[in-house]
Amino acid sequence: MKTIIEPFRIKSVEPIRQTTPEEREQFLQEAGYNLFLIEAKNILIDLLTDSGTSAMSTEQWAAMMRGDESYAGSESFYRMERVVRNLTGFKHVIPTHQGRAAERILFTVLCRKGQVVPNNTHFDTTRANIEFTGARAVDLLTPEAADTQARLDFKGNMDVQALERLIETEGAENVPLVMITVTDNSGGGQPVSMENIATVKKVVARHGIPLYLDACRFAENAWFIAQREPGYANWTPKQIAQKMFSYADGCTFSAKKDGMANIGGFLCTNDDTLAQQEKDLLILTEGYPTYGGLAGRDLEAIAVGLEEALDEDYLRYRIVSTAYLGQHISDAGVPIVQPPGGHAIYLDARAFLPHIPADQFPGVALAAELYLQGGIRSVEIGTLMFAGAAQMDLVRLAIPRRVYTQSHIDYVVEVILEVWKHREQIPGLRLTYEAPFLRHFTAHLEPVRVVATRS
Ligand SMILES: Cc1ncc(COP(=O)(O)O)c(C=O)c1O
Repeated sequence: MKTIIEPFRIKSVEPIRQTTPEEREQFLQEAGYNLFLIEAKNILIDLLTDSGTSAMSTEQWAAMMRGDESYAGSESFYRMERVVRNLTGFKHVIPTHQGRAAERILFTVLCRKGQVVPNNTHFDTTRANIEFTGARAVDLLTPEAADTQARLDFKGNMDVQALERLIETEGAENVPLVMITVTDNSGGGQPVSMENIATVKKVVARHGIPLYLDACRFAENAWFIAQREPGYANWTPKQIAQKMFSYADGCTFSAKKDGMANIGGFLCTNDDTLAQQEKDLLILTEGYPTYGGLAGRDLEAIAVGLEEALDEDYLRYRIVSTAYLGQHISDAGVPIVQPPGGHAIYLDARAFLPHIPADQFPGVALAAELYLQGGIRSVEIGTLMFAGAAQMDLVRLAIPRRVYTQSHIDYVVEVILEVWKHREQIPGLRLTYEAPFLRHFTAHLEPVRVVATRS
């Protein structure tokens, strides 16, 4: 059959609440046009993030009842460790409460002031944790990714020549590790090819530098490899994921994505000395090494979720349903980052609202309008988030795993197309409050009622 259906049926439902346009106008004004500040109960379809928002399966809930809450030596830890070792091949599995805790521990142990850590694109917590140690985080994304309209297969690849140049100019001793983020969240959810991972490994191995995967979306990346990279069509997603991990010396992982859990993460390494230092730090702030800040039931949910994320029917539905949203709006002329990523669709707000200059936050204005029109929450990734460093103004529509059905997505398409029709009437915004750092979480804005005239 041609129709790809949700590979699950619904056993437990959570009501979502309709609001009137008048109510949404009021909530938006009270929130200073910042969707982070709107209560979740007043959101109809929440596409703010795919992180920690997955629906768990019956098997995960059942496993949670088995959660062994022992402080030390919990059975649940050993179950999760077995699953992670089988998947990644890494010797040491260190649980953490989420991905950024794994990052903080790893970089505290490995990085020193003045050193440099390359990545295809650092996620914001990755960058912040590296910079917190005094080291520099450098993005070395393939130059092909700069063209948002180029429909290329692996726009998450690392620029290997740029990596070689960087190691040469900085000196290998000043590069404590190289990271590859799969898929590349900050770069549009684009995948990294196996060939690229293998080539980066070859380069870093020559210099004795360890390679780490930021593996949050390893299963989605594996699916893209199966679909797009010659030679992998007959491999299972698990076999592909195992091969991806085989090139790495360790990984950081947020189980809130392809762990299908609502909380959790881990840090892996093959290095005994490093693992000992990491566990010492873990005990200081996260917890004992057999729970790492998590309840035993969370470890159980992750152990089951890691296997479910690799299910072929699930992955087919997941990637196709994200592309479905992208396809339907781009066919109607709505500008998006191409091709659709694994976990999200990114609207190009500067192209959507060319009458709004970047300093009037076109991404925030578009996100606010999607809420006004249909109660949809998205997130701006642009001038409000990155100020002058913003290269683009994007609105990310991240799809939570196994949460929304096709009719929800059809509704999202309809709302976006309605907004597209009256785009010329959407006003820009100006700031009325901003915090000294990470301003996008708490900023207040108001509409600039006079739309800029053409010169
Ligand atoms: C690529 C990437 N790395 C790291 C993280 C951090 O994970 P967490 O939110 O669990 O701390 C995220 C979260 O969105 C991410 O997308």
